[in-house]
Amino acid sequence: MNRPPSSFLDTLRARLPLVTVISQRVRLTRRGREYTGLCPFHSEKTPSFTVSEEKGFFYCFGCGAHGDVISFIMQADGLSFSDAVKHLSQAAGLKSTLYSNYDYSIKTSTEYSDLLDVMEMATRFYEKQLRLPTGKNGLEYLYNRGLNDEIIAAFRLGFAPPGNAGSTTLKREGINETLLVEGGLLIHPKNGGSPYDTFRDRVIFPITDIRGRVIAFGGRTLGTAQPKYLNSVATPLFRKGDVLYGLAQARSPALEKGTVLVTEGYMDVIALAGAGFSHTVAQLGTVLTEGQLAVLWRLAPEPILCFDGDTAGRLASIRTAQRILSLLKPGLSVRFALLPEEKDPDTLIRTEGASAMAEILSRATPLFEEVWQNLIKDHQLDTPEQLAGLEQAIKSLTSRIVNLTVRQYYQILLHERHRVLLRKMARGLGPLPNHNKKHVRLTGSIPQMKAMADRVFTAFLLTHPQVLMCHIEQVAELLAGNTALSHLIENAATVLAASPDIDGASLISILKRDCQEIAMIGLERDLHSALQRQCQDPEGDYQRMLLALYDQALTREIERMQTMLTIDPSPETWQRLQILQKERNQIHDNKIMPPLS
Ligand code: UTP
Ligand code: MN
Repeated sequence: MNRPPSSFLDTLRARLPLVTVISQRVRLTRRGREYTGLCPFHSEKTPSFTVSEEKGFFYCFGCGAHGDVISFIMQADGLSFSDAVKHLSQAAGLKSTLYSNYDYSIKTSTEYSDLLDVMEMATRFYEKQLRLPTGKNGLEYLYNRGLNDEIIAAFRLGFAPPGNAGSTTLKREGINETLLVEGGLLIHPKNGGSPYDTFRDRVIFPITDIRGRVIAFGGRTLGTAQPKYLNSVATPLFRKGDVLYGLAQARSPALEKGTVLVTEGYMDVIALAGAGFSHTVAQLGTVLTEGQLAVLWRLAPEPILCFDGDTAGRLASIRTAQRILSLLKPGLSVRFALLPEEKDPDTLIRTEGASAMAEILSRATPLFEEVWQNLIKDHQLDTPEQLAGLEQAIKSLTSRIVNLTVRQYYQILLHERHRVLLRKMARGLGPLPNHNKKHVRLTGSIPQMKAMADRVFTAFLLTHPQVLMCHIEQVAELLAGNTALSHLIENAATVLAASPDIDGASLISILKRDCQEIAMIGLERDLHSALQRQCQDPEGDYQRMLLALYDQALTREIERMQTMLTIDPSPETWQRLQILQKERNQIHDNKIMPPLS
């Protein structure tokens, strides 16, 4: 076997985290950014063997052994380089694809470094053309899309002139036709006509490996020619599914920021980099592959996937969510940032600026949330049959999660959400009714409302577990500011998840045993009197309590506004006071419902 291409070795390293491989033979403990353990290459009592995932290297301070994942296997198992590569490829699931597609043995004349050289020469040629009169249209096109010379240089953008100028020049510089064909730059028509350049009259986007060496190109038409983007065919250097555009530039900013953004296209990466989001890559029009995800997870535990705000983008996000489920591992996930209607990151930044993008990123949804939303979007939930359908869907979805620990948590949490829907339906609450009463928006009053959500409220909920279950999210939000009370509620929710039909008295006795908070804040008295009260309509009581909380919060805010008015008699203060008073009157006239989440 000849030495495989370095892009292949990079893929191998990316797919097999060093720590994972080494920890199969050495017990490693984390110390800061590195791992340490007893060196497998010499005998020692205190650990001097260190592994840095970030650098992809191990080093022993005792005996000096060092290297990457391949040399570790060579040294640990006494294998030759090619056997170590074979062994690791198998472990990485790469064997079948790469080793059968490319037969290294016949490539004696074609060294992979030669191919890399060809790609580099082509890149320089395209870069140069962009600055010549032939490339005028290309350069103008890029300027019109808001790019400046600095960013054009950083991404090494270029222009491929019409005709066969590219291959002609490279041949003149000594490159033979075989290499040009193998590198995907020249096409031999199947019917035997004369060969022609792959990229003609297009703006060129060089695609690099993680070290920044060009391995392929994308070419965009300036006009309406199809396809809009033409990409290199698969070559020994380039397999679309293993590559992320912009990875070389994004790598260190991503490690620094602890997060990485994944977009759909070339121009998104470039526009985002220009707007300060240098930790961005693109997936080149594919659904995210396992290989790409492995690379991303080495950069950050939760890459943010940005999908275009069109139908295709929405569909892609659903498909991607489903596919990633099978690949999840403890501590590793993704988030989803969905762009507004008809926008991609590039157009969003140009029309609304970097802050709009930052805002969208800050609201990126965790995978779990995305999965849940997609589940309930597909199901009407008004009948027992439909609820059963949802449960079935939850089962089949979670069964895709291969990692058992992650699967277990998805099951628990999805079933918990399912149970909340069930409780609501059991109480005929369905989608919350509000007859002729208006909902109040939670305008400015929620902070005050939080302050009011107190021990009596908590005691009521703990004595009526089913009501608590029904409104767990809203309750959690209301009590968010109060550590002791939220902790109690959290514990109650855990108990309830295990035994949903538990009664108030039993729940409380479990909590009294497990949570010091009850004694600490003297909740026993409140609990006692809440248990004594026989209540006919717990759900109604909950609503009334919420209303009372809202009323108190409004009253306090009204008093604050009245004081304000004496200091700042502006029309705004006056207006706000009017609104608050009107809201409070409506509550008293029983015309509105309490604000519900
Ligand atoms: P889009 O169609 O969303 O294009 O494709 P875009 O990135 O917004 O392109 P501009 O802004 O019109 O220039 C997203 C990505 O899908 C791949 C490219 O990587 C593109 O950036 N693609 C798209 C292709 O490979 N070929 C195509 O014909 C179209
Ligand atoms: Mn675009």
